[in-house]
Amino acid sequence: MHHFHDRPGPPGLELWCEEVPLSRIADAVGTPVYVYASATLAHHYAVFVRAFAPRDVSVAYAVKANSSLAVLATLARLGAGADTVSEGEIRRALAAGVPASRIVFSGVGKTDAELAFALDAGVSEINLESELELHRLAAIAADKGVRATVALRVNPDVGAGGHAKITTGSDENKFGVSASEVERLYARACALPQFDVAGLACHIGSQITEFAPLRAAFAAMRTLVERLRAGGLPVRRLDLGGGLGVPYGDAPPPPTPADYARAVLDTVGDLEVELAFEPGRLIVANAGVLLSRVIQVHTRPSGRRFLVLDAAMNDLLRPALYDAHHAIRPVRTPEPGAVERPYDVVGPVCETGDTFARDRRLPDLAAGDLVALMTAGAYGASMSSEYNSRPLVPEVLVKGADYAVTRPRPSYEEMLGRERRAPWLG
Ligand code: LLP
Repeated sequence: MHHFHDRPGPPGLELWCEEVPLSRIADAVGTPVYVYASATLAHHYAVFVRAFAPRDVSVAYAVKANSSLAVLATLARLGAGADTVSEGEIRRALAAGVPASRIVFSGVGKTDAELAFALDAGVSEINLESELELHRLAAIAADKGVRATVALRVNPDVGAGGHAKITTGSDENKFGVSASEVERLYARACALPQFDVAGLACHIGSQITEFAPLRAAFAAMRTLVERLRAGGLPVRRLDLGGGLGVPYGDAPPPPTPADYARAVLDTVGDLEVELAFEPGRLIVANAGVLLSRVIQVHTRPSGRRFLVLDAAMNDLLRPALYDAHHAIRPVRTPEPGAVERPYDVVGPVCETGDTFARDRRLPDLAAGDLVALMTAGAYGASMSSEYNSRPLVPEVLVKGADYAVTRPRPSYEEMLGRERRAPWLG
């Protein structure tokens, strides 16, 4: 469910975001540009929280999915916490108005400086991912004379996710402590005066579309909680991570938040723990599109037809990095029955990997036409870069009939002005 709909505009039916025609944003801000619907953010957050009702759960939105301050502030106002993986993300969450008491700090390679920063900021929980990190944090907390609230991130050895590059829960991956080490490390943490040990955490992968691995991971977490308690160790919180997939239009739909909540409550619902989650994609993916203009359409002698957009892999990396599918549609709604042809949809970056889709059936398009790459709100702008010296893609947040440019496109002067010549280069 999202808020991008066809509505009648002066030139005929076209795609709008809430009450704003996308063509108006393209004309005012230029393309490429990310456009987000506040209503979709609010809807997805509410759907996720309500799926567990009447049970209260805590939801720390995974900042990495879309770290726009405006998106974070929108979610913060709804009561969302933030799952962060760097000092930069903690700073973003705080700047957007997420209280430190709702910020979780995770990540496999937190530096001493980042751990110290998190303690000073007073984040609500630091998820420990290894024995070495446990000792590093204890030493830093002792130095500061503070107590850290921690959870142990477990690697339940259940791999899942839409692509090998985004699977995190298998023993082959770098994340978390193995189930066999949990009891020893949890007991060690509980014995340290520097720690208040809240419980266990896990996150097995992203874009998960099947139930079996989710259930297996939740069941493994249940076993661990029971084992720890049997050994006299208290467990009051269980953080089950994020990872629930969203429909990108290329595969059967993933479980709904309601199905997901049922799987959670069936497996761990009776444990008397506070349940916490770190969804990212589910909240923001459908809330955003990447709006782009056709630069030209050309056909090679082989007959392959290329739709060359002004958006490229530096703006939306997912197709190049994970072979990800994003639906692509013209902003101006085609006439019913319009002929469709296969296009390779590409950007201007100088490598063949800069391909958004191959053989995608689209109605005839011409230079200057607008297209929308759908479901691009998650891991789109947050993974964008200036590769090929293309200025960082701007972002726009829509709310009803209003819109605001929340990350302006840098000018070329700004882009070059961030760098310094080495002194010997004059
Ligand atoms: N919690 C932790 C510890 C994570 O590592 C992640 C994502 C999440 C929560 C949020 O997962 P989500 O609900 O968004 O699936 N760039 C990739 C996705 C990488 C996900 C990394 N970790 C992509 O574009 O598909």
